Amino acid sequence: MKPVNVGICGLGTVGSGTFKVLRDNADIIEARAQSAVNLVHIGSRRDNPGCDPGGIRVSRDIFEVARDPEVDILIELIGGTTDAKHLVEAALRSGKHVVTANKALIAEYGNELIALAAQHNVTVRFEAAVAGGIPIIKALREGLAGNRIQWLVGIINGTGNFILTEMSEKGKQFSVALAEAQALGYAEADPTFDVEGIDAAHKLVIMASIAFGMPLQFSQVYTEGISRITPQDIDYARELGYQIKHLGVAKQTDGGVELRVHPTLIPQQRLLANVCGVMNAVLVEGSAVGPTLYYGAGAGAEATASAVVADIVDLARDLAVDQIPQVLPLGVGADAIKELPVIAIENVRNPWYLRMEAEDRPGVMSQVASVFSDNEISIEALIQKAPAQDETRVPVIVLTNATQECNLQKALRSLEALDGVTGEIAGIRVETLDG
Ligand code: HSE
Repeated sequence: MKPVNVGICGLGTVGSGTFKVLRDNADIIEARAQSAVNLVHIGSRRDNPGCDPGGIRVSRDIFEVARDPEVDILIELIGGTTDAKHLVEAALRSGKHVVTANKALIAEYGNELIALAAQHNVTVRFEAAVAGGIPIIKALREGLAGNRIQWLVGIINGTGNFILTEMSEKGKQFSVALAEAQALGYAEADPTFDVEGIDAAHKLVIMASIAFGMPLQFSQVYTEGISRITPQDIDYARELGYQIKHLGVAKQTDGGVELRVHPTLIPQQRLLANVCGVMNAVLVEGSAVGPTLYYGAGAGAEATASAVVADIVDLARDLAVDQIPQVLPLGVGADAIKELPVIAIENVRNPWYLRMEAEDRPGVMSQVASVFSDNEISIEALIQKAPAQDETRVPVIVLTNATQECNLQKALRSLEALDGVTGEIAGIRVETLDG
């Protein structure tokens, strides 16, 4: 078998992790790829003091790797969507296969990059773009190939899950937990991508596209992050029997596809409610297999490198025998990709958790209850806390039954207009994961 040559662009956290896994596991990688996998070129704008490339050629101009005739597979690990897109296009146009960990690039430009790859008889692989080291792309695209996927829900941002876990278990402030996640190398270069849900939305779009055979449509995802979650909400949710997790949800329904990422109350006894720290997990419901759960490290250098190397091995197996890889990036070809309507968030139905501050005087609770009945929202549970000393207001927590989101928003406006309710009302969706 002829050896397969790879070039890595970007020697940051994931790049240096990939370098290490390729070097340390070279024997098993060669056995599984059935050919030697040689790292022959590194494109990096600066040195990484934690990663000595030894005798491997290093170029400061990353595009040198795309131009190198020796390179069969270019590994894009520079991140961002401007230079990364140009680099990937250059590699594909010069007949190189591409492996990337870049979820923003695939979520936003994947349709055109996959089409460009097909024009040049090469392919793009992105296992590392979703859920770090968990082989969820391969599971959706290959392992579950015999199923119609009905829905998937996942904890798909390690940083966000780490922060919520630290807040929940150790009572830490949001900012302290975020700084720790950054120091551990979990967070994106711009951590607002993690805490505002953008990173999770990128990953959700990629999974939904493979699961449902639809184009990548990042702009259609409803996106809400965790920056407004308070320790109080975490405590009240726990008292009601729930954990707060940041979830990505993709569901096929009769009216179209739901694509949404937001904080969610999950019943404490569900496996997903017990996924803690930087770990990720994705629950997938297949028509034949039923529910399946995938769990593992969602971020970090070597965990993500594990997924990058899995893509390299997959490609190397075919390239070693001069075969064009047959597994398509989204599992099906362009002719089988169908535009599916995405349901507007106003039309999605969910139960809700609400927390408001109410005046502690007669009649207020009855006004609150009337707003729910006027909007045909059924109350599942209601807790009123005793007032703190010298305080005339009390926290009121309401758990509703499922209602359409536009209905809930209307009720919220009415509640906020009551003179017995002060300030903004906190609202978090509830997912019971019953199917
Ligand atoms: N910032 C991402 C996360 C890294 O925390 O999940 C892996 O995509």
